[in-house]
Amino acid sequence: MGKDDITDLPGVGPTIAEKLREAGYTDIMTLAVASPKELADIADIGEPTAAKIIRAARDNADVGNFESGAALLERRSKIGSCTTSSKSFDELMGGKGFESQSITELFGEFGSGKTQIAHQLCVNVQRSKDEGGLEGHVFYIDTENTFRPDRIRQMSEAYDLDVTEVLDKIHVARAYNSSHQMLLVEKVMELSHEFPARLLIVDSLTAHFRAEYVGRGALADRQQKLNKHMHDLLRWGDLNNGVICVTNQVSAKPDAFFGDPTRPIGGHIVGHTATFRLYLRKSKGEKRIARLIDSPHLPEGEAVFSVSEKGVRD
Ligand code: GTP
Ligand code: MG
Repeated sequence: MGKDDITDLPGVGPTIAEKLREAGYTDIMTLAVASPKELADIADIGEPTAAKIIRAARDNADVGNFESGAALLERRSKIGSCTTSSKSFDELMGGKGFESQSITELFGEFGSGKTQIAHQLCVNVQRSKDEGGLEGHVFYIDTENTFRPDRIRQMSEAYDLDVTEVLDKIHVARAYNSSHQMLLVEKVMELSHEFPARLLIVDSLTAHFRAEYVGRGALADRQQKLNKHMHDLLRWGDLNNGVICVTNQVSAKPDAFFGDPTRPIGGHIVGHTATFRLYLRKSKGEKRIARLIDSPHLPEGEAVFSVSEKGVRD
């Protein structure tokens, strides 16, 4: 990623930075698309200096590159997957579970199994390819303090895995608010040079956003932030050929004010950026039902699975 602090640019000292920030030029991308004249006026600098700043911003902006069709095909041919530990669930997802280079969104009411599936993936992704894993570490962004090492222990023991080794490869961070949550993705990006991670969990993707951006007036802002967040996640998935799994709580109680009870918060933005959307619901006892919704290349369908002492199973 390019630099993202405008003071990192040559020619932007504290005074100029202050003026730019006040005028809304808070990041490098905004500067990269500015014109020398507008910048010169706002920051009270000569046009040549403004032009120099803009040039530096363009050099440092994280614009992204074009990829050839061949390179794209090559990257897509490397897509891997991580088993859910349930055959019918894996089949629903195309045969082998959750795919890399994609975001899979789990949405459903409390207790529908979102966090349990996230925990199961943390264990499974570490296993060999023959066993449905990707032999990778895990980053877990926990917004609700529901990550449980003890549950990881149970799930690891069910496969005779060394619990300490499994736990050592799961890197967990609490996110205290939505901005912190977004910053943690940048941190994950950095740390991925150090740890060969193949799974990124955000549990819950939407809880902080829902709590912080309240009311109709805040909706556009919230969607814009969520959109950026989702794209940052996808970028991590592309760069690391990793699986991304996010959770999104919805109420199963029909609510007259908000229409369809199964419409997750984040609505279109989350929906269009997530590659796979799974609606989870409770059934009798340990039984849970996953329904695949609007997937680009898989048929809609349902899978029945269970959450038992050992973890997710058929
Ligand atoms: P919210 O985060 O509240 O929206 O719910 P969630 O969808 O994340 O639910 P979660 O994955 O936490 O599922 C909770 C359910 O999993 C419980 O009601 C139990 O049925 C089951 N569960 C959780 N922990 C255990 C466990 O240690 N053993 C067994 N057998 N079941 C468990
Ligand atoms: Mg949960």
